[in-house]
Amino acid sequence: MRAMKTAARMDSIGTETAFEVSARARALEATGKSIVYLQIGEPDFDTPENVREAAKAGLDAGLTHYPPYAGLPDLRAAIAADTTARRGFTVEPSKVFVTVGGKGVMVYAIMALIDPGDEAIVPDPGYPIYESITRFVGGTPVPIPIRMENDFRLDVDELAALITPRTKLIVINSPANPTGGVLTRGDIERIAELAIRHDLVVLSDEIYARILYDGAEHVSIASLEGMAERTIVLDGFSKTYAMTGWRMGYAVVPDWLVKPFGQLIINTISGVTAFAQAGAIEALRGPQTDVDAMVVEFKARRDLIVDGLNAIPGFRCNKPQGAFYVFPDISGTGMTGAELAEGLLVDAGVCVLAGTSFGGVGVDHIRISYANSRENLQEALERIRAYVGARTPARA
Ligand SMILES: Cc1ncc(COP(=O)(O)O)c(C=O)c1O
Repeated sequence: MRAMKTAARMDSIGTETAFEVSARARALEATGKSIVYLQIGEPDFDTPENVREAAKAGLDAGLTHYPPYAGLPDLRAAIAADTTARRGFTVEPSKVFVTVGGKGVMVYAIMALIDPGDEAIVPDPGYPIYESITRFVGGTPVPIPIRMENDFRLDVDELAALITPRTKLIVINSPANPTGGVLTRGDIERIAELAIRHDLVVLSDEIYARILYDGAEHVSIASLEGMAERTIVLDGFSKTYAMTGWRMGYAVVPDWLVKPFGQLIINTISGVTAFAQAGAIEALRGPQTDVDAMVVEFKARRDLIVDGLNAIPGFRCNKPQGAFYVFPDISGTGMTGAELAEGLLVDAGVCVLAGTSFGGVGVDHIRISYANSRENLQEALERIRAYVGARTPARA
């Protein structure tokens, strides 16, 4: 039966619970149960029309062949110009790689950098794939706790204490999934100092950089002195332009990673769907009014969900400054996040994720994605209130 056994490395790969929970919720729905879906990080808006039209035109114009493996030259130029303008450091198109989703960037970055035994510091709670792929390649993920008490910003002193001679990579993600936390310029400057002092590489996941509220500032660590040469910037089209199904992301890498990134792309995907890239060019170069309108709407939804959750006994929810997630502490309900998520799905028909889907620190939390209509959010709040109310004994 040797042939029927997977390679040992498959024992160390993790998962992204959102996809599994979604399948379970859809199966429940098929049995006739009504479900409000708040588990997945996906804007409910359609991709803007100009972007869809550009991809259709690309298809008709013959973009049906293999594209250059690193991306269409025009798209790489558009990404380089956009990054230079928005992030404030000069990027040449040769440092840009178009990938299948932003997820592709994290997989390539970790594969290119982590040897067995190397350590990568990853946020906890954080996007689960950083940890999963680090283990998959034989590395050791070292969690840096991210706490609500610190507005879901990492504590830079704590980060410094986690650095060892085996540390190779620090992963940061601001604005963050699953908390919506945003690092300040001061935080980023101190992280950069540590990276330079200890000769570390930074994977900066900036996929929510455009989804910011209350005047919060996005600072790309790559824009700080001495950092572009040791930073991989991850961004993509999924969130900003409501293009999750297009599977388009990109990396901006330092010179010394240009060849490795190219080799990894050639070895895995050969390049990204050519006509989809035509849509992405239009996304960056066309009007940005749809993006702005989406952010205005996300902000209204954030306020609705934060106020609604804070009115439920046992919930404590901060007001995040970015992304489209909240990560309330629900310990006051007497349940763990996993117990509450299970009960909400099965009994109340509200699909959320347990905080532990993002690391051990989130045990008392659930994650809610509020990228859903206000009407559905209102309905979810009512269902959660009723479910929790029925379980929490009324206080005298
Ligand atoms: C923090 C973070 N990074 C990257 C991604 C990957 O997105 P995509 O592969 O759709 O570009 C996600 C998606 O949820 C995310 O939350």
